[in-house]
Amino acid sequence: MADRPGPRPPGPRGDRWSGNFADYAVDPLGFLSRCAAEFGDVVLLGEHNVLVVHPDEVERILVDRDRSVVKDRPNLRRRAHTGFPRAMMNSEGGDWLRKRRRLQPVFRPERLAALAAGAEAEVDRTVAGWRDGELLDIHPEMARLALTVASTHLLGASAGEAAESVQRAVEAIMRLTATPMRLPAWFPSPVNLALRRSLAELDRNLDAIIARPSAGPGHDTVLGLLKGADPPLDPAEIHDELATLLMSGYETTAEALTWLWYLVGTHPGVDRRLSAEAGDPAGAYLDAVVKEVMRLYPPAWVTSRETAAPVELGGYPVPAGTTVTVSQWVTHRDERWYAAPLVFDPARWLDGGPPHRYAYFPFGGGPRGCIGASMALREIAVITAALRSRVRFELVEPDGVRPRPALTLQPRGVRAVVRKLPAG
Ligand code: HEM
Repeated sequence: MADRPGPRPPGPRGDRWSGNFADYAVDPLGFLSRCAAEFGDVVLLGEHNVLVVHPDEVERILVDRDRSVVKDRPNLRRRAHTGFPRAMMNSEGGDWLRKRRRLQPVFRPERLAALAAGAEAEVDRTVAGWRDGELLDIHPEMARLALTVASTHLLGASAGEAAESVQRAVEAIMRLTATPMRLPAWFPSPVNLALRRSLAELDRNLDAIIARPSAGPGHDTVLGLLKGADPPLDPAEIHDELATLLMSGYETTAEALTWLWYLVGTHPGVDRRLSAEAGDPAGAYLDAVVKEVMRLYPPAWVTSRETAAPVELGGYPVPAGTTVTVSQWVTHRDERWYAAPLVFDPARWLDGGPPHRYAYFPFGGGPRGCIGASMALREIAVITAALRSRVRFELVEPDGVRPRPALTLQPRGVRAVVRKLPAG
């Protein structure tokens, strides 16, 4: 690996032919955690692949003050393949910066106030659709709720069919990314075919929405913003931006909400304290609960960069062209930064967070950190407060709940009987 002298980071030896691929593919969360426990803060995962665990190195990679890392090229290539290469998320350098600045107004505080009002109304509609005593699969319920809120914010009121096709496309992507042995994208496997079909459907729906004259410029949505751009944008660029924002804008939020109901439902003391805040979305304890949920079950559980120049990580020289992986799942569960790290304890956030800024990075960090972080936090707080003051979820068989590490960390098996609470 080294193209200059220096020690190589330690790491698992793996199989002679496939390296550590099989171990990673079968149980990525366990594999990365074991690597960190056994080999320390910088781990050689493969010939051109390094895991960094310590918050100093996480910061070095994400904040990247000397511009020696890029969003890793294999990832960009893969995404370009599944579509949307013109989106901000899949761009680099000056092109990325221009696109990121263009989107910023949609995430300003005054726009988020409108989102909060919309989210509360959507909770009312959702609760009205539940029967008291009904058994609910919580993740799809939260996904529907978060998708309606996000698509209204991004596209305006008439997002209907596009929203449904976004959900189908995201489900297909999650199935693909949770499959240990992935076949090449051209191969007509059921998973690949489902993905291709759902992306084509999404393309058609988005193009129809973009072409509608009613969705004109001047509207306060991403759609309006992009259609009003001067000089005008190619519709294909608007299309890619909308698709990626819709996809990244709801599933992560829905996962955080689902993990929240699971953790609150299995910790009655936390639930009591939460309900004592009487549905206040700005409550300090609610804020601590959300932080702690995303510490233990970070929807974005891993990400990576590629070195564009040689860098030093934890005393090891790392050459250009190396994929550097950081994992929220691993660093958030490190006992050096969190006492009893596996315990769900929101109170740990009430007297300040961990000692290191990058011991906690559910939204990444640095220039390519999440553009939607404040939108997501606002939405999660409003939905949680509004739901908790209207219903109680009684979990069914919570011992069977498991994380499924796909592109994001999906909660599997969170089911609950819903009990409606008297109004007031
Ligand atoms: C709980 C919810 C969310 C989580 C946990 C989350 C997490 C993240 C993380 C970790 C990154 C950085 C990835 C990296 O460094 O490689 C990111 C980037 C991004 N997120 Fe989010 N996100 C959430 C919600 C949202 C929402 C609501 C939107 C928009 C509607 C959004 C849009 C984006 C975009 C466009 C990027 C790419 C930014 C860039 O490349 O400059 N996310 N997100």
